[in-house]
Amino acid sequence: MAKLYVNEKKVQGHINPEIYGHFSEHLGRCIYEGLYVGEDSPIPNVKGMRTDVVEALKEMKVPVLRWPGGCFADEYHWKDGIGPKENRKKMINTHWGGVVEDNSFGTHEFFELCSQLGCKTYVNGNVGSGTVQEMSEWVEYITFDGVSPMADLRKENGHEKPWKIDYFGVGNENWGCGGNMTPEYYGNLYRRYQTYVRSYDNEKPIRKVCCGANVADYFWTEGVLNTCFAQPQPGNDKDRGFMDMLSLHYYVHPEGWEIKGSATEFDEKVWYKSLNKALYMEELINRHGAIMDKYDPEKRIGMAVDEWGCWFNVEPGTNPGFLYQQNTMRDALVAGLTLDIFNKHCDRVKMACLAQIVNVLQSVILTEGEKMLLTPTYHVFHMYRAHQDAELVESYIADNKTAEGSDGEYEVPKLHESVSIDKDGILTLTLNNLSVTDSEKVETTFAECNPTEVTATILTQDMNAHNTFEDPERVKEETFDNFTVTDRGLSFTIPPCSIVSFRIK
Ligand code: AHR
Repeated sequence: MAKLYVNEKKVQGHINPEIYGHFSEHLGRCIYEGLYVGEDSPIPNVKGMRTDVVEALKEMKVPVLRWPGGCFADEYHWKDGIGPKENRKKMINTHWGGVVEDNSFGTHEFFELCSQLGCKTYVNGNVGSGTVQEMSEWVEYITFDGVSPMADLRKENGHEKPWKIDYFGVGNENWGCGGNMTPEYYGNLYRRYQTYVRSYDNEKPIRKVCCGANVADYFWTEGVLNTCFAQPQPGNDKDRGFMDMLSLHYYVHPEGWEIKGSATEFDEKVWYKSLNKALYMEELINRHGAIMDKYDPEKRIGMAVDEWGCWFNVEPGTNPGFLYQQNTMRDALVAGLTLDIFNKHCDRVKMACLAQIVNVLQSVILTEGEKMLLTPTYHVFHMYRAHQDAELVESYIADNKTAEGSDGEYEVPKLHESVSIDKDGILTLTLNNLSVTDSEKVETTFAECNPTEVTATILTQDMNAHNTFEDPERVKEETFDNFTVTDRGLSFTIPPCSIVSFRIK
């Protein structure tokens, strides 16, 4: 039996909703077909955005959406994606699948999508192959509310009022697909490019995201911060220096980058390897965080894990450049424990974007023509949505066993949790059982809370289970009522390979 202690009186930090963010890239069928079908499509849509997908995403609660890439961002020239659609440039998406990009989804469409989703906007600029002028004009086009060449152009294109950019990424993966730069070289470019990412409206400051490291490249983090971190000026403690956030990218490839492995066909060994690699996120946050602490002990700069998730082989018979993969209970557990890690590090992690929202890598939704399905990962985000904007509270599992079968190099603990309290005093407790075979009895004890109203849902199935267009509800969130309310606690048994989410009053 495991003992889960929750001290709901000990608040440990605020869970920024953006930790539950998503990523949309011009890659495969993410934008075209997945999110956007065009106004003339027989698939029901509002201004070209598919209604079924938008409605499902609203229900899941998307706090922020990143666009247009990824690697695509550093080849994207925003002026190709504005004005009458018939005049927009058609080009080859050289990075992803060599297909025609007709630019019918551009700046106006992105802001329309975010307004339908009711989410914050995260635009990623082009440093790799774009100019400072191009980047600065894009910001002017989107956000300037006065007379200027770019604001006038926006109005000519039918949008009188400016939009709001919440976050702006100054380049993407500039250590790789974004220009193969050294940290010092990028750091200097960052200083220069970000100067012209102007916040025209002081009430709506643009938060700037500096390109951080790939996985464990601590040399990059140190080099970039050493080059471009600016201490706040004396007498102006609002000044955050040149950046508001520093990014980090980490994907789970159980069999390594070259082989990756199947998304659906895997055994227990690979299951535990995958979960072990997902848990590595914590070490990355700690070690990159320690470097950030050196420069920024007050934690003014947030860590933005703006690409994360599982990356497997594409589904057999699909375009290898489209990165379309299935999503099983393994993805669900990876999502659950990664979100718990982000919650527990909410003092530093202020944003995270799962890659990618629809039809690419660890998506929450898959589509096939007019059909749509929710993946196991969707259900996890839905079950965790009450953590958004809540306060993390102290929690700890005593007598947590090692999941049997995970011994040796890829050992994982059996249970993994996080707990938060919202503004109405309701606790959200999310708990993952990583074991493929064994259930576990859990005695939960609160510091003071004597639960009066408890509701819970569960996601549980075999490890390889996934939803298909023939069987779209094989894995779905269900009511969980197999618990007993005790004096200052809860008692229940969590089945193997499952995620439970409690709401406790
Ligand atoms: O998510 C797919 C790609 O992975 C992104 O475009 C890039 O930033 C990363 O390498």
